[in-house]
Amino acid sequence: MPIEDTSEFIKVLEGAGELRRVKTQVDADLEIAEILRRVMYANGPAVLFENVKNYDMPVLGNAFGSMKRLQIGLETSDFTEIGQRIVDMTKMEIPSGFLNKIKKLPELSKMGDVFPRLEKSGPVTEVFEDSPSFGKIPILKTWHRDAGKFITLGLVATKHPETGIRNLGVYRMQIIDDKTALMHWQKHKRGAHHHDISRDRGEKIEVAIIIGAEPATVFSAVAPVPEGLDKYLFAGITRQKGIKTVKCRTVDLEVPANAEIVFEGYVDPSDIREEGPFGDHTGYYTPTEPYPTFRLTGILRRQKPIYLTTIVGKPVLEDAYIGKVIERSFLPLIRMFQPEVVDFAMPAAGWFQGMAIISIKKRYPGQAKKVMMGLWGLGQLALTKMFVVVDDDINVHNIDDVIWAITTRADPARDTTIINNTPTDTLDPASPLVNLGSKLGIDATQKTKEEGFTREIQQKVEVDEPTKNLVNSRWPSYGL
Ligand SMILES: Cc1cc2nc3c(=O)[nH]c(=O)nc-3n(C[C@H](O)[C@H](O)[C@H](O)COP(=O)(O)O)c2cc1C
Repeated sequence: MPIEDTSEFIKVLEGAGELRRVKTQVDADLEIAEILRRVMYANGPAVLFENVKNYDMPVLGNAFGSMKRLQIGLETSDFTEIGQRIVDMTKMEIPSGFLNKIKKLPELSKMGDVFPRLEKSGPVTEVFEDSPSFGKIPILKTWHRDAGKFITLGLVATKHPETGIRNLGVYRMQIIDDKTALMHWQKHKRGAHHHDISRDRGEKIEVAIIIGAEPATVFSAVAPVPEGLDKYLFAGITRQKGIKTVKCRTVDLEVPANAEIVFEGYVDPSDIREEGPFGDHTGYYTPTEPYPTFRLTGILRRQKPIYLTTIVGKPVLEDAYIGKVIERSFLPLIRMFQPEVVDFAMPAAGWFQGMAIISIKKRYPGQAKKVMMGLWGLGQLALTKMFVVVDDDINVHNIDDVIWAITTRADPARDTTIINNTPTDTLDPASPLVNLGSKLGIDATQKTKEEGFTREIQQKVEVDEPTKNLVNSRWPSYGL
């Protein structure tokens, strides 16, 4: 059975030796963040801080900070299955004849199981606060030069103002006072798009921020799913069981019934303020930039909620593992559009949007460039600064193998592509302008005659089979 909520996740992690409890009193102001950073850099466990100074609420961090914990949370050891399920759904035929219908019924009913289900109440509706305040929540300050406290793992729920499709995105929020925060949804993200449509209609957009939920729902908020796919449905596809939702009290939005806390409110497009600085996942402080204001109108919560959080900084920290699962789970979807792609890696040190390495099975001249151009047009991959394309004999997860391919199969003048004035990740500290910069593509595939490579293609040095077999059979005798 999939994990239903944060408490159950804690129990399962603890049973697997993947969680520690800290009973010593700790401060939400800088201290918890530094503890978590040290634990994360040492590949340590999830940590539940049970005694937080001035707050009556435990804080959970690093819950997703290892592949093992993500396997436990998402209940799979093969994350590509998640993307494959979406690909399979797009291939499902609509049954026409009766016989066909019978054959497809089990598949169709399985699909029905993953849809979200609206309930009248749930654990998160235990308490409703109509005089809400951020002040009672142990929101962390994570770096000493940060502008203040930031919610870093809130799942920001909005509805597309025209289609009604529900979205969740993890966008950090800077707390200004008890009822006001700044919403850091970057321009290319869906929350910002929903906001822009509402703003153009002269409306404020209703928003709910969810703290803690089924692990699959948290993952769903970070996942760059294809446009038009409801993130609550994606959470159900991921955990193979639909999530339960409840209605908010002060805004017309549904939220996961098993959440810990929900902040209800709206984002006011007419109240724009400077957000930041914030110690970011690039390893630098992102300077101030203008973002709109969130106004808190109500809080739904459990009687005894847990505050789920994370901290970011120079890689590799917790978000790198979540990114790795996104990389694995979206491979089948990438292949749907670029079938020659064999494997795909976004090294954590490159904070994901910085660099991606793609291996392809090349069949025709110029194919590496075709793949780059295709991926630069695909969802959030449009923000990737550098693509390196290699042949399928190269292991994209082995940086030595990749460097070997670049240095032996690419000629800088022939195989480097630079495209100027393209959308870049908002956080890129090097782009000439915020949100606008250039792309670098390196075609590190072996060049062919059709690509104008007239020199003899050199053979790879590899051991011949007879020698390999001889040494294999005699190995024990060498005493090595
Ligand atoms: C810990 C963490 C913090 C994040 N903070 C932000 C943020 O402040 N702003 C933002 O636009 N994206 C942020 N992201 C990335 C988005 O959550 C991610 O791009 C997601 O796919 C956005 O969803 P969307 O495509 O539905 O907009 C963060 C991701 C993680 C894991």
